[in-house]
Amino acid sequence: MNEQIKVRISEEEVNARIAEIAAQISEDFKGEEILAVGILRGGVYFCTELTKRITVPVILDFIEASSYGDGTQSCGQVKITKDLIEDIAGKNVIVVEDIVDTGRTLSLLLENLRKRNPKSLKLCTLLDKPERRVVEVPVDYNGFQIPNEFVVGYGMDYAQRYRNLPYIGVVEAE
Ligand code: PRP
Repeated sequence: MNEQIKVRISEEEVNARIAEIAAQISEDFKGEEILAVGILRGGVYFCTELTKRITVPVILDFIEASSYGDGTQSCGQVKITKDLIEDIAGKNVIVVEDIVDTGRTLSLLLENLRKRNPKSLKLCTLLDKPERRVVEVPVDYNGFQIPNEFVVGYGMDYAQRYRNLPYIGVVEAE
């Protein structure tokens, strides 16, 4: 391999921030149940670490989607490659994602989920790269805002590698 990974956000910082978000969600949904929807594959580590720390009842489900279409257009289509098992109608749904970049995937996915009539629908992302935004997406819970650099770890990959790093790093060519 011809690259090195430099730590950008340490494991301790990531975990501390996840605990804060989990506390906020637990407070916001006091007395209610939530249905956490992790987005495969990138959102899987954040989703499990987050839901472990939420103190209200949690139902866990996953969905896998890919967006496609003309790269210069703000509208495209989302292809659900693995759908939810649960019926989300009437549920408090929190979509849990690793990163919001252009916003295309999430805006289309949220539109798809909204049609299933959840009681509420929130978006929680570990990272937000606002500089790259092409489509507006309402981010309800955000771990860290980051500049436009390529990050890996905590679910995020570089050619499918490094998802399992317990911290967020940047790829540096050797
Ligand atoms: C990443 C990430 C988001 C999406 C964000 O997924 O997990 O779903 O891209 O980009 P956008 O805001 O520009 O739409 P990716 O398609 O890389 O799949 P993965 O989660 O399996 O790595």
